[in-house]
Amino acid sequence: MLTSNSLKIVDNELLIGNVSTSELAKNFKTPLYVFDEEGIRKNCRAYVNSIKENYDGNGLVAYASKAFSCFAIYQIAKEEGLGIDVVSGGELYTAHRINFPMDKVFFHGNNKTKEELELAVKYRVGTIVVDNLTELKMLIRLIEKANKNGEKIKQRIMLRIKPGVDAHTHNFIRTGQIDSKFGFAVETNEATEAVNEALKYDCLDLVGIHCHIGSQIFDCNPFVVTAEIMMNFIADHPKANLRELNLGGGFGIKYKSDDKPIEYDQYMKKIATKIKEVAHERNIPCPKIIIEPGRSIIGSEGITLYTVGSKKVIPNVRTYIAVDGGMGDNPRYALYGAEYEFLCANKAGEPKTETVTIAGRYCESGDLLGENVKLQNVEPGDILAVLSTGAYNYSMASNYNRIPRPAVVLVNNGTVKEIIERETYEDIISKDVIL
Ligand code: LLP
Repeated sequence: MLTSNSLKIVDNELLIGNVSTSELAKNFKTPLYVFDEEGIRKNCRAYVNSIKENYDGNGLVAYASKAFSCFAIYQIAKEEGLGIDVVSGGELYTAHRINFPMDKVFFHGNNKTKEELELAVKYRVGTIVVDNLTELKMLIRLIEKANKNGEKIKQRIMLRIKPGVDAHTHNFIRTGQIDSKFGFAVETNEATEAVNEALKYDCLDLVGIHCHIGSQIFDCNPFVVTAEIMMNFIADHPKANLRELNLGGGFGIKYKSDDKPIEYDQYMKKIATKIKEVAHERNIPCPKIIIEPGRSIIGSEGITLYTVGSKKVIPNVRTYIAVDGGMGDNPRYALYGAEYEFLCANKAGEPKTETVTIAGRYCESGDLLGENVKLQNVEPGDILAVLSTGAYNYSMASNYNRIPRPAVVLVNNGTVKEIIERETYEDIISKDVIL
């Protein structure tokens, strides 16, 4: 089962963006992350169009770059007219270095450091999404200091609100989910206090509110309920003139054949209807909407290629297939038990006759990429493809065991570009200091 339209099987070989995966493995070595540019751009456009069609274009798609951050993806986002969400000084710096338009940057984080806030103000980040009162005060202090030194900064901010919707349960629940490290709770009045506090300062422009209810969500209803709660919050605070509503990300993608992602269009249609309905009922203007998809822009447009090493058949127990990567380039199975589709890239047309466990090469028993996986009969030297690894894989990769991180290539209808080079052993030791 292929998880993206970017993938095809031709002559027993897996192609991505019309490029042979065996050729990629040969030319760039493995492990290798491969992304399809056309697929990424199509996803960007689908979101942009869904706002155009359902909400008169009164919105912005901000790619949540924690899913995968590098120059190339910021360039694509910029060309497609997207904004971005950054969550650290590192992501912000990357965006700055590639000249991403700072007015379209949303800076998130539940514990931004003073240095990060200073950097954000220095770069004139469009919107800082304030998480707590300590941060609010720190931000005010540093802007007032800059303004005393001749600057004229009026910083756009949003407040991160906990809408109290837990979308991760089977039937999502709408409770006072105040037990989260992110944002201001509505129930405790904390959110209202934050609004009142922010309004006192001329150096701040409180434009709206933000929330994010979770990730890999397949059901539209939690998003609709959240939009309703957020709209009512806006209506309950008329003096604040909250005119932008950032609803976060979280839309699910196809990892396994039975995953059924929501059509972006459906999502936006339902959200827009609810927002217009509440705006009418409460007699407030429709706010500008911001959405922050991460996984669903990039996730299914990326795959990882590995070379199969040893195969260990343990009679009556299981068969291990070991590959040349693992939890260092994809910690998601070890961390979350995340499941993927696997296939032998150079035998992709053959039936999956074996049930195997895919082991990584890291020195840890839990370093697995999948268990009870259906796979073609693979031999050492074959290329294994893991599908839908575009989101939160490279971005969560590590140098555990001092193994260099893989390269990343971008394919597009037969062409290939390397967008992140493979790390070298020299990179690994580059920060070591000799005693
Ligand atoms: N906006 C905010 C404020 C977020 O915290 C996130 C994700 C997003 C947007 C994007 O959500 P997405 O559309 O990608 O679901 N490491 C985990 C995922 C953590 C998501 C954290 N926040 C994983 O590998 O599944």
